[in-house]
Amino acid sequence: LPDGLALTPPMGFNNWNTTGCDIDEKMIRDMADIFVRDGLRDAGYQYVNVDDCWAAPERDPVTKRYLPHPTRFPSGIKALADYVHARGLKFGIYTSAGTLTCAKTMPGSLGFEEIDAQTFADWGVDYLKYDNCNNQGVDAKLRYTTMRDALKKTGRPIVYSLCEWGENKPWEWGADVGHLWRTTGDINDTWSKTVDIFKRNAPLARYAGPGRWNDPDMLEVGNGGMTTTEYRSHFGLWAMMAAPLLIGADLREISREHLDILRNREVIAIDQDKLGVQARVLSSENGLWVLAKPLAGGDVAVALFNETEANARISTTARAAGLPQRPGYQLRDVWTGRNYQSAGVISAVVAPHATTIFRVKADALGWPLREPLVSAGLEL
Ligand code: DGJ
Repeated sequence: LPDGLALTPPMGFNNWNTTGCDIDEKMIRDMADIFVRDGLRDAGYQYVNVDDCWAAPERDPVTKRYLPHPTRFPSGIKALADYVHARGLKFGIYTSAGTLTCAKTMPGSLGFEEIDAQTFADWGVDYLKYDNCNNQGVDAKLRYTTMRDALKKTGRPIVYSLCEWGENKPWEWGADVGHLWRTTGDINDTWSKTVDIFKRNAPLARYAGPGRWNDPDMLEVGNGGMTTTEYRSHFGLWAMMAAPLLIGADLREISREHLDILRNREVIAIDQDKLGVQARVLSSENGLWVLAKPLAGGDVAVALFNETEANARISTTARAAGLPQRPGYQLRDVWTGRNYQSAGVISAVVAPHATTIFRVKADALGWPLREPLVSAGLEL
């Protein structure tokens, strides 16, 4: 939506990938505290979001408003939003553009859009994820537009996430309706699903921009089903695709190694770059991928992703990545922090399932450069 919100992809937390329906207010408060304590807020994570199952099974019989689930959220949603806001963070909530949510434990908003948008605004909600279950066959664009208008009517700035799973090509109409739209079905904590979603989301680059993002679903980093190398690829590829970065792991239990993936400032800077361009795929032959993401100020992020089961050298050039012609280039590996110089070749030996990401600067360093100067990535 061109309303000045979500000018960079939203960053935060959502409980679904780790708890499913088994959620309560204490867990959400803990995540807000950990955002502050462990430097996630300082790294840019802002939204603390609750997914399905937060409401009581029935609406208030008189006002028709949502009621918070009596045992999971006994203090109420307003108190929870206040708690999150008091820590300098923002609060997000969930419902479905249907008669019930997907878990079917609480009502959806279909037919109650204005009441619910106003309730959310009154509670101090800053972000709404709007799901697609139990939609009664009503046209998707109509259902999502009705809630857009209801949110707008409240006058409160609320980031609006269309969780329509890509079924009705939301990238073709979503820019006027929401700030982000899911492009696929649900992620899970496996490498094969992560790669599958990457392949579906990557070709949609031209639809993304400030205030209108492709959403390849929330992060699985830290949930335990992938290797650290795979989690680095997941996070790095999501950043290259200017995806929303919504942590989906229980931060009370995450390992230091996985937390450090989520806190990597240089990878986050690629995701959050204010130019807001999603990486284009330059090549993808035999499972060896090259992606390039232009950044504000002229740098380009180049990702070399090895989908295969063997070490492989992946190469491109600064010119192919869209950098201007210069005598030399500086390459910085954003995972290792190592710096390289090149006369134009961008190349690395990449381990299976790994992704090397260089931030490339067009910059003649003033001394003669010969090819090949780069020997980055895995040392063989
Ligand atoms: C389907 C969505 O795609 C998921 O992200 C999650 O919100 C569940 N529904 C909740 O039921």
